[in-house]
Amino acid sequence: MEEIVKYFIFILIASLVLEKVEAEVLLNSGQQLGKAIFFDTELSSPPGQSCATCHQPNIAFSNSNIVHSGADSNKFANRNTPSLSYVSNTPAFKYDTIEGNVVSVGGFFWDGRAKSFEDQVLQPFINPLEMGIPRLENLVAKIKKRPYFKSLLKQYRISPHSQADILNGIKKTLIDYMSGPEFNKFNSKYDHWLTGQAKFTLEERHGMLLFERVDKGNCAACHTLKRQHVHDKPLFTDFTYDNIGVPKNTNNPFYQVPETVNPLGINYIDYGLGNTNRIKDKRYLGMFKVPTLRNVEVTAPYMHNGVFSTLKEVVEFYNSRDKTDQWGAPEVPYNVNDTELGNLSLTEIEIEALVAFLKTLTDDYEEENK
Ligand code: HEC
Ligand code: HEC
Repeated sequence: MEEIVKYFIFILIASLVLEKVEAEVLLNSGQQLGKAIFFDTELSSPPGQSCATCHQPNIAFSNSNIVHSGADSNKFANRNTPSLSYVSNTPAFKYDTIEGNVVSVGGFFWDGRAKSFEDQVLQPFINPLEMGIPRLENLVAKIKKRPYFKSLLKQYRISPHSQADILNGIKKTLIDYMSGPEFNKFNSKYDHWLTGQAKFTLEERHGMLLFERVDKGNCAACHTLKRQHVHDKPLFTDFTYDNIGVPKNTNNPFYQVPETVNPLGINYIDYGLGNTNRIKDKRYLGMFKVPTLRNVEVTAPYMHNGVFSTLKEVVEFYNSRDKTDQWGAPEVPYNVNDTELGNLSLTEIEIEALVAFLKTLTDDYEEENK
């Protein structure tokens, strides 16, 4: 009898310990190093800004500004900071044929101008409107003075004399970190529901049906629920590009930056994918990458220019873009998608249900509801 009691106490303690370990996100050494760089505010010029200043971990690696200032607080780039949760699942840019049409898929930034994660990851350091380091060689010089420099050399077996190897090491470690568990939690209410560990309310279930129904929200046409290769879980984006007719955001501080940065002032137009150096093609003007909707509850404001401040406003826009003048004209009038959205005839109850469903996509559900 005593033995059995001891056995049960042992099992109880063991399971409590295991649960604790599971709850803490464990990073391998490459990811820890990447995290140190991601949070390092000494690298920018002037110092004071890290990747995490704009990509804040408590709100799915986004921030709540329309656009965030750079390391120089008078400087602003033109776009809203996207969430980096799940970003490592983005495929490299390619052309694909879907139902007989050639479409662009994958790539990094809202306009896909960086072909791959490797092409993207050093750019924020040397963007004059972001971290402001003049050149990559200056980044290398700064990294050499940081306490983690020796670990970087060891981790990727690189020589301290090769600038190219050091830059590759920085790329690798940042990508390792952003591909790791802090960015790929898959622990939202939706994920718990998928595995039978949570129940949807009637409203959330209704919202999910509307999200998928072609004759209702039709959201899944782009924010797909199909399971995708890396984690075999839905990512709520098919990584394609569309012009959904987002209006100009006149509150964007980019319109107020000096003429040397934005010579057109308020007349500046963000043409997206079709205006990137790699593409320069009228057929893609006004198109931006379909973002994941995971964690969208906490990543306001919305769209590439942060023009909408609530999820309800976003759904109302999809619902009535083509029915009222309330939204203003699309910033880019070409290639606007008017077959899949713009006049959905959703009722108020349906709009609320869609919003309720979107809120099931927020990570850390279990932790909050214990
Ligand atoms: C000043 C704010 C700011 C800082 C600092 C910053 N970012 Fe960003 N990040 C942005 C904005 C804004 C975008 C979108 C830019 C665009 O689409 O043109 C972006 C886009 C990205 C993307 C592409 C996301 C996607 O879905 O394609 C990645 C990855 C990223 N940043 C990683 C980083 C890393 C790593 C650092 C540090 C080295 C960093 N960022 C520093 C604001 C910032
Ligand atoms: C035709 C493809 C398509 C369809 C259909 C679609 N979306 Fe989107 N969605 C996009 C694109 C593209 C963007 C980014 C547009 C931009 O910034 O210019 C976007 C952006 C969003 C955003 C903002 C996310 C962020 O991080 O800023 C939300 C929320 C959203 N969509 C929800 C929905 C909902 C809800 C539906 C259904 C009612 C829907 N979408 C239908 C393509 C689509």
